[in-house]
Amino acid sequence: MLEEVQQLQKAAVAEIEAAADLQALEELRVRHLGRKSPLSQIMKQIGALPATERRALGQISGAAKKALQDALEGRQSQLQEKAEAGDAFDVTLPGRRPLAGKLHPLSQLSDELIAIFQGMGFSVADGPEIEDEYHNFDALNTPADHPARDLHDTFYLEDGRLLRTHTSTVQIRVMESSAPPIRIISLGRCYRKDSVDATHHFAFHQIEGLYVDENVSFADLKGTIEVMGRQLLGATTQVRFRPHFFPFTEPSVEYDFSCSLCGGDNARCRICKGTGWIEIGGAGMVDPAVFTAVKYDSERYTGFAFGLGIERIAMIRSGIDDIRLFLENDLRFTRQF
Ligand code: FA5
Repeated sequence: MLEEVQQLQKAAVAEIEAAADLQALEELRVRHLGRKSPLSQIMKQIGALPATERRALGQISGAAKKALQDALEGRQSQLQEKAEAGDAFDVTLPGRRPLAGKLHPLSQLSDELIAIFQGMGFSVADGPEIEDEYHNFDALNTPADHPARDLHDTFYLEDGRLLRTHTSTVQIRVMESSAPPIRIISLGRCYRKDSVDATHHFAFHQIEGLYVDENVSFADLKGTIEVMGRQLLGATTQVRFRPHFFPFTEPSVEYDFSCSLCGGDNARCRICKGTGWIEIGGAGMVDPAVFTAVKYDSERYTGFAFGLGIERIAMIRSGIDDIRLFLENDLRFTRQF
């Protein structure tokens, strides 16, 4: 029986040391040290043995029980340590990339436009989006009964102010507060009560330019617009000017850039529709009536002004066919830029 106890001890310790997890270890404890375990059964018989054998088996069984308990404790702490290490930070894993924010595509293009015009000596001016009728219309030679007001129908506030329909308002504000020479651009949001479709929105962005000094000519306007076109759409971009009417410039033009996508060869081009030209914005020489409104000497100074829609340029450059995408803030769209 002594030998049997030693065999039991050896086999049980080996099983305990190989236990895969804490649950398996508990099963082994019950099997080898529980009341029905072989070792317990042997120990129950000790009392019935002759005194000489009783002592030897008592010692061996007691030692075996202790050996099994030690083995169980040892394996238990090993398995617990392993389980805790599993929750710890694994320095060998690749890092998780943080979600980095990005500028909206219109902000990116605005920054680019600012850089282009700063390169030509323009500085950036700002003006309010809630305007009065005077700065949006009257000072820009568009009195209340002028038919051009109909084209700029907008949102009025109860106090008579309105959401500006164009950034030309900033021309007036800058000239009211400073003397020539003036060379500014202004970028910002404008509002019109236009029906929303793929190319029109009730809220959109414009960039305005104004250059006033002695001897500013139409040639300066053409050169400035050409530089902008080439820097935005490529060095081979051509500019075309067409006669137009704006109440606050005389003469006035609309200007187009040659199509950077198809060069005019594709009747089905989604940007120029095969005409080879893309309509960009309006411009002209500042009307003397505007200079009078801001108390500038119209005999001494001349100037040019221009304006264009920023969404339009972004749509051309990135082949976007619906202006509504810019305001929806759908990350699947904005993340592409
Ligand atoms: C003007 O707003 C003039 N203030 C531009 C100007 C400035 C002329 C200085 C002369 C001197 P117009 O209404 O054409 O002009 O608008 C200019 C551009 O704004 C358009 O070419 C177009 O790109 C953009 N735009 C106008 N209305 C909308 C709209 N509803 N949705 C999106 N873009 C628009």
